[in-house]
Amino acid sequence: MSVTMEKIVSLCKRRGFIFQSSEIYGGINACYDYGPLGVELKKNIKEFWWRSMVYAHDNIVGLDAAILMHPKIWEASGHVAGFTDPLVDCKVCKQRFREDEIDPDKLEKRQCPRCGNKGSLTEARQFNLMFKTHMGPVEEDASVVYLRPETAQGIYVNYRNVLDSSRQKIPFGIAQIGKAFRNEITPGNFIFRTREFEQAEMQYFVKPGDDEEAFQFWKDQRMTWYQKLGIRPDKLRFHQHGFDELAHYAKAAFDIEYAYPIGWKELEGIHNRTDFDLSRHQDASGKDLTYFDDAARERFLPFIIETSAGVDRTLLTCLVDAYEEEALEKETRTVLHLDPQIAPVKAAVFPLVNRDGMPEMAEKLYRELKGEMKVFFDASGAVGRRYRRQDEAGTPFCITIDSQTMEDETVTIRDRDTMQQDRVPMVKLKAVLKQRIWNAGNGDG
Ligand code: GAP
Repeated sequence: MSVTMEKIVSLCKRRGFIFQSSEIYGGINACYDYGPLGVELKKNIKEFWWRSMVYAHDNIVGLDAAILMHPKIWEASGHVAGFTDPLVDCKVCKQRFREDEIDPDKLEKRQCPRCGNKGSLTEARQFNLMFKTHMGPVEEDASVVYLRPETAQGIYVNYRNVLDSSRQKIPFGIAQIGKAFRNEITPGNFIFRTREFEQAEMQYFVKPGDDEEAFQFWKDQRMTWYQKLGIRPDKLRFHQHGFDELAHYAKAAFDIEYAYPIGWKELEGIHNRTDFDLSRHQDASGKDLTYFDDAARERFLPFIIETSAGVDRTLLTCLVDAYEEEALEKETRTVLHLDPQIAPVKAAVFPLVNRDGMPEMAEKLYRELKGEMKVFFDASGAVGRRYRRQDEAGTPFCITIDSQTMEDETVTIRDRDTMQQDRVPMVKLKAVLKQRIWNAGNGDG
């Protein structure tokens, strides 16, 4: 049975991965809250990214810039003038659309994609996607600030600070994970396109002329990263932006796309932004942002290669890719084959039955493990049901304390994917679990 977005939404709500924001008030469109399992999964994905981008590269450092920034940043970056989508309305059914998403045949007839009325679409208006608010108590033009629509600009305007304080030399990168906000005209498909989301971006500063090699390097690195995250390679591909698709700042761009139930869609963008951003900020701020290369005795404005991933979209990809409804002899089990490294709960501990000292022994083991990893204790219901609950949550291992444990201090480890069990001495359990969880992938992200 194939995975659909509806099945993912239903599993997420049922098991506490993701909820509609403000649900008890009827919900707010295109905003979502992460529940107990979702927040663990998201945290693990972010850690996986951070380890592979920052800790694995001596020349990449981290940053956490404020969401609210000087409004001149968004003028210089081109977002005030150009971060727009063409919005059209249907005069009959009042539905709104992005003009560039309407079928060209229908568009020619100004035919509404929803109600089908011809000649009912208005001319396109450019709609700016940035959320505007005011800083301080007075709502006037002078106090306008924006919720950042990308984390990248926080990095560009701190480039000098980081360079001067971290003793990095070009080429070097700055990585950041943080919230971004876009007043999307057509949000949807669950957390695929929302109005509040998180980005994991890395901006790599290089000497002009070295940009194409760096672009190729990061393009390959990022594709490999998704495979290390456990995503099936045949569901991933590159899409090169044609000239008409390129963002206002980019000389070249590739998307990494995934085959979602809604079709092939962008998961991450890799862009050669040239010196566009630094030259704009240099001009607008009046501050010198050039770099002096000591060895070559030359001064230049660095080019930037950007890798821009969506954390929520990566999480959705992990869920879609991991989801399976597996037909067993007498039943169908829903299982999330998440890579153990990012699984929200690493192991569940069960007493086989609630007597003969097994619950006490299981609880003792649970307490020992929980200092090391996220574990779950469950003593309620038939053990088969308990396995199924963990399969749906993506828990890679279930540890069971049974009557043999009481005799020889061994426990069974059940593997989520194969459903096979093997027996391990309790004293070795921690080491065995760590090996199976963190050596399951490459460990280094
Ligand atoms: N700094 C470059 C930049 O922001 P982008 O292609 O607009 O580039 C990068 O966005 C990534 O951010 C996308 O590939 C996607 O994963 C994520 N993203 C963008 N808009 C999003 C939205 N409305 N909801 C969820 N994720 C979004």
